[in-house]
Amino acid sequence: METPASEVPRVKLGSQGLEVSRIGLGCRGMSPNHGPPKPEPKMIKLIQHAIDRGVTFVDTSDQYGPHINELLIGKAIKGMREKVQIASKFGISLKEGKMDICGEPEYVRACCEASLKRLDIDCIDLYYVHRIDIRVPIEITMGEMKKLVEGGKIKYIGLSEACAATIRRAHTVHPITTVQMEWSLWTRDLEEEIVPTCRELGISIVPYSPLGRGFFSAGPELIESLAEGDFRKNIPRFKPENFEHNKQIYEQVKEIASRKGCTTSQLALAWILHKGDDICPIPGTTKIDNLNENIEAISVKLTTDEMMQLESCAAEDMVKGERHAFMWATWINSQTPPLSSWIDE
Ligand SMILES: NC(=O)c1ccc[n+]([C@@H]2O[C@H](COP(=O)([O-])OP(=O)(O)OC[C@H]3O[C@@H](n4cnc5c(N)ncnc54)[C@H](OP(=O)(O)O)[C@@H]3O)[C@@H](O)[C@H]2O)c1
Repeated sequence: METPASEVPRVKLGSQGLEVSRIGLGCRGMSPNHGPPKPEPKMIKLIQHAIDRGVTFVDTSDQYGPHINELLIGKAIKGMREKVQIASKFGISLKEGKMDICGEPEYVRACCEASLKRLDIDCIDLYYVHRIDIRVPIEITMGEMKKLVEGGKIKYIGLSEACAATIRRAHTVHPITTVQMEWSLWTRDLEEEIVPTCRELGISIVPYSPLGRGFFSAGPELIESLAEGDFRKNIPRFKPENFEHNKQIYEQVKEIASRKGCTTSQLALAWILHKGDDICPIPGTTKIDNLNENIEAISVKLTTDEMMQLESCAAEDMVKGERHAFMWATWINSQTPPLSSWIDE
């Protein structure tokens, strides 16, 4: 039986008033990223179905597609704007196939204006710095975002893949509402310093790729099913030399899921949901059935013992290969120069 919309709980993120559904919808896989784009009418139907069921926190970026994903969401939310909280991001562009990260003020403003047009809305609920530009003091990037809030272009500010020091500095310019980080059973590097820092500052966490980019849903079959052009083929953990080892992790999670009477996707989501009331995972899907299944994860209850058992299956020393193909562009390399260096220039 489906959980009625009114029963998908809500969660307050950050300390500034943002309230969203307990889980969100990651839209990246709908546009060219996980292989070719999915048919637009089907994706519009999926997004509208999610909103009707009470999953109202929709996650996108100008980089998804690029641009196509925001255009899709703009079409999907027509007539439903008031029910939805849109999160988008700026900061990554591709220049001749190479990743470029920019946090300069003019770029921030231009990206925001362009996203508003594509989304066809007046204000973005939550606007993230997608990646930190380590050439620009974070205070400078944040200064422009603060102006966007003051000008009514965005409501709340988020950071993605930022280290604790950068989060602290950013938060002094304008309150950060959420930090979006990869967080799943096999990616827990943020737990030591980033999570405690966010909690101290009243910032919520939005875990991205909570299903391990599909690994905890499909297990070994994921690799065979990846389409030509699916960027996940480049992730070290999915490379044959590591995957052969990593697939054991899935087998153990599957065993616990069958004991619990739920699916592995639901178990992976239930685990992250049990990490705190101040977080909101954004599993990505392109299928209505999978979305429905993911919503039901909210009702899966785990004991402390079960949490520990799951964590031991995917402990750091059990996982082979980095989580990302571009580790240099993650939080581990996100310290920016001091503000004085910029002013002095
Ligand atoms: N800030 C960042 O840098 C960043 C980076 C990556 C992602 N994100 C955001 O996080 C969102 C989610 O991350 P993600 O898509 O990388 O990974 P994910 O949510 O961990 O996994 C998505 C994969 O799981 C599959 N799946 C989902 N539910 C399923 C179910 N119930 N049963 C079987 N398969 C299921 C999806 O396939 P189907 O489509 O077939 O369901 C898809 O292949 C993205 O859409 C994006 O919004 C942010």
